[in-house]
Parts: sequence; C-alpha cells; structure tokens
Amino acid sequence: MPACGGAGSDEAGPAGSVRPPSRPTPEQQARAAALLTGPDWYRHAVFYEVNVRSFQDSNGDGIGDLPGLVSRLDYLKDLGVDALWLMPIMPSPFADSGYDVADYRAIEPAYGTMADFERLMSEAKARGMRVLIDLVLNHTSDAHPWFQESRKDKTNAKANWYVWSDTAGREDIGCGTNGSTFGDSAWELEPAREQYYFHRFYPGQPDLNYREPEVAKEMLDTTRFWLDKGVDGFRCDVVGLLFETATSCSLVPETIEYIKSIRQIVDGYADRAMVAEPVELTNATPYFGGGEDMFHMAFDFAYGYFWGIAFASGDRRIIEEAMATASAFPAGAQDALVIGSHDVLRAWQTAGNDAERYRGAALLQMTMRGTPFIYYGEEVALRPGAATPIDIRDTSRTPMTWTRDGAGHGFTTGTPWLPFGEAPGDTSVEAEDADPDSMLSFYRSLLALRRGHAVWGSGSSRLLPLDDRGIVAFVREDEAESYLVAVNLAREPREGTATASLPGRGRVVLGQGSLATAGDAVTVKLPESGYAVFQLRP
Ligand code: NOJ
Ligand code: CA
Repeated sequence: MPACGGAGSDEAGPAGSVRPPSRPTPEQQARAAALLTGPDWYRHAVFYEVNVRSFQDSNGDGIGDLPGLVSRLDYLKDLGVDALWLMPIMPSPFADSGYDVADYRAIEPAYGTMADFERLMSEAKARGMRVLIDLVLNHTSDAHPWFQESRKDKTNAKANWYVWSDTAGREDIGCGTNGSTFGDSAWELEPAREQYYFHRFYPGQPDLNYREPEVAKEMLDTTRFWLDKGVDGFRCDVVGLLFETATSCSLVPETIEYIKSIRQIVDGYADRAMVAEPVELTNATPYFGGGEDMFHMAFDFAYGYFWGIAFASGDRRIIEEAMATASAFPAGAQDALVIGSHDVLRAWQTAGNDAERYRGAALLQMTMRGTPFIYYGEEVALRPGAATPIDIRDTSRTPMTWTRDGAGHGFTTGTPWLPFGEAPGDTSVEAEDADPDSMLSFYRSLLALRRGHAVWGSGSSRLLPLDDRGIVAFVREDEAESYLVAVNLAREPREGTATASLPGRGRVVLGQGSLATAGDAVTVKLPESGYAVFQLRP
C-alpha cells in the first residue's frame, strides 16, 4: 500500500495539517444524544472540572458563583461539554479551597443559595448536561459544628466522631499517621480536650472517625441528600483514606465495604456515576472492585500527572504503562483522563510552554480509552498565576478570562479574589474564539471529532509497538470504525515501524503525518511534536 495521509476532505489547519470542522454535524449531535442516554452515559461524556470560585462572578464581589456558572452553561454546551464536576460548593472557611467543609447540606454563601444550586441543576438538565459534585468524606473543617463539639471534652455526644489520641500518634492506625500530606505532623494538640486529633491534610481538616456508626450513617445520608437534589453523581475526594489500620491507610477492607455501601445507594437512583480520586498515583485498579460494585470511574494520574515527563524525555514508556494498566481494569471500569487539575501545575507549564506539546497531550487525553475531564481554562491554555494566598496550588486556580480587555476580563466587574494568570487577554475566550489557530479552536475540533462516535468512549484500545519510543501510537476500534492515533513526543521529525496488521487504509482526519504498510510492517511518520489521527475504517 502506498503512503497515504495528509490530504483529507476536511478543513485544512495550519501548516498543512488537517483539522476537522470546529462544530459537530446535526447527525453527530443526534448520535451523541443517544449515547448519553441511559446508564452508560458517562463513558461517552466529556466532563469539565469547574472551580466555581474562579469561573464567573455574577455580583461584582470578585468571587465566582453559581449564578455566574449558569450564565456560562451555553458556552460549555457549545464547547462540547456534557457533564460538570463542581469543586466543593459547601460552606467552608477555605483553608483548603473548600476541601474543608463546615456544613454538608448547604451551599457556600459566597457561591449562592440552595435555590441557586437548584436552578443550576435545572438549567443544566434543560441543556442535556449533568452535574457531579465533590464529596469530601475523609475529613471536615475544624469549623464544622461536629468538630467544635468533639473538641470540647472526652464525653460529649460527638466525642468519638473524630480520631483522638493521648499522644501524637497511634499504632493501631498505622502508616502515614505521623506525617500529614501537607505538613510535619498529622497530630494536633487540642488543649481543651488535652488530646491530639488526627488530620491527614491541614490542621483545619480533622479526619472523621468512620468506626463511629453515627459518622458512617451521617455521611451515607449526606449522599442521599444530594442524590435527592438531583445530582448525577460524585467525585469522591481522597476516598481511599476513610479507614486506617495498623498496617495500611489506603483502601483497607473497611473502606472498600463503605465504598460499596455508597455505590448501593447511588445505584438506587437512575443513571448516576461516581469517580474516585485514588490515593495512589499509578494504579487505580482497586477502586473498581469487581467492576460494578465500587467506582464507575477513577482518575488516571499515571497519565494525568506524568505526561509532561514523557514529552520532556521523548520516551513514551510512562504513557504506555498507564495504558497497559487501564487495559487490565475489570470489565465495567472506565478510566478518567486528565492533563491537569486544581492540584497540579497548569498544563501550559507541564508542556514547557509549548503549544504543540500541549495539543499532543490533549489529543491523547481525548483519544485514549476513557472519559476525558477538562480542567476549566485548559481549552484556552490558561497560564499560571503568581499569587498563592492559600498555597502553591493557587497558581493553577486563577480566574477564567472571558474578554480580551477590561480589568475584570469578563470574570468580574469588581476585583478578582485571586489575580489573573499570565497573558489574561490573549488567553481569553474572546481572543481565542476569533483565532482559528488558537487552543480553543483546537479543542473545539478535537471535541467535534469525538462527538457521537462511541469508539472513543468504549471501543477497544491496542498499542502499536513502534520501534521508535518517541512516538505513542494506538488503535481504537469498535464494530463501526477504527482509528490510529499517533503522537510524536520529540521536537524533531520521527518515524517508527512495527509489525502489525491494520484494519484499513489511513486517512488523516486530524493533524499531520503519514502511514504506510508493506507486508506486515506498519510505518508512521510524524513531523516534530506532530500528531495525527488516521481513520482506518470505514
Ligand atoms: C484532594 C483534593 O483534590 C485536594 O485539593 C485537597 O487538598 C485534598 N484532597 C484534601 O481534601
Ligand atoms: Ca460573586
């Protein structure tokens, strides 16, 4: 077969690369609507992580809020977003950006009211969009009334709701208990009670004691409360940490049982989904249990947090290992794919300020087997900020920029709670919308390419073991179609060959490159930092 590729019938992108139209066809939209109906919807959805505080302010106080988010739903819908994950929206002193909850059944006043939340739910539903909320089960804020009571003395009604000790450590709850994730000691002295409490994170985030039956019941009731409000599911914060034993703190048998009891509640409602934030960064397999009794999805940090190393080294092995791990997940499990989040650097930094690397990483996120979760602002390649009032992670939590001009860049008419990141005007939606070569235009094309094609969410995935480790290549396939995706991690043109049989000729439908077969040898050529999606079948 002769070399082919390059000239597709689609719109031509910059420098001869092929770019699909930036909006899906009505037929694709109809197919997408069908795929997004029923219990498997989350396999075909594109998720978007919203940092409500930084997305859109509606009342000029500089703090993003729920009415602001409602006003941007049409933007998200048009982008191709099907489901939102809202970072914590419950009342919080904000010692850890809302991951310190002071009331599990109310809305943070700076974000609005419960009526505003209900309106968000109905406006999202009216657009066919779903909403997942962040559920922080492991710990509360120290301002929570439960902790306020628990800390008073050893005999109050909530005395056993948290993890207490006479000394700064406890052997029966084992590993990790001497050091917290964020500081030196995980034990803080409470003078009133003359005891120490355990906090896996900041001292303002005391760990709940799940061996106290009232705690276990209360948090299950909390999940029912939000399901009754109509949420489509939960992103479960550090959920592996709920119980500790003498030898392990991560996903011990009691935690697994507790997660199963949450899943049973969730399964009592139609078409809901749960996504786990695994504690371990390289293997989320245990979070899926048998495939249908724990999480529907779990974040793939093996790719999401380490793709920058693969690009910087020009070696695909990290990505390959992430894909191999995911391919061994139990049936029913779905990988949740990210290239950034509120916890790590902005993808722009991870890509080394290189737009082509960034595009390659986003392309992998959207085409590897799984469900992509876009972190707000990634579609415009939001740059990092410099101010860190809470902690270093604030650099990736700066306000969204909507307009090119104006001090508030369309985010606020007041003073933003956190200063904008670098180049706020250039990375605004307004500026990028007008530029066919912008990151936003690229994302639109990427999402339009996926839309209504089941293969991306649920098709099989097979690595193509090219002899050049600088190229990641894999085949995605289902009964209807197959594609070959190839990304060159290196900043120079590359060519790789593998022994493989492909189901058809390749036609580039996105990017730039060539694919040739001779006997049972397949050769892929890509330009420097190049990428290509070849449609092999039909
Ligand atoms: C994980 C969250 O993503 C992170 O932002 C938070 O600090 C910790 N869990 C503690 O809740
Ligand atoms: Ca506001």
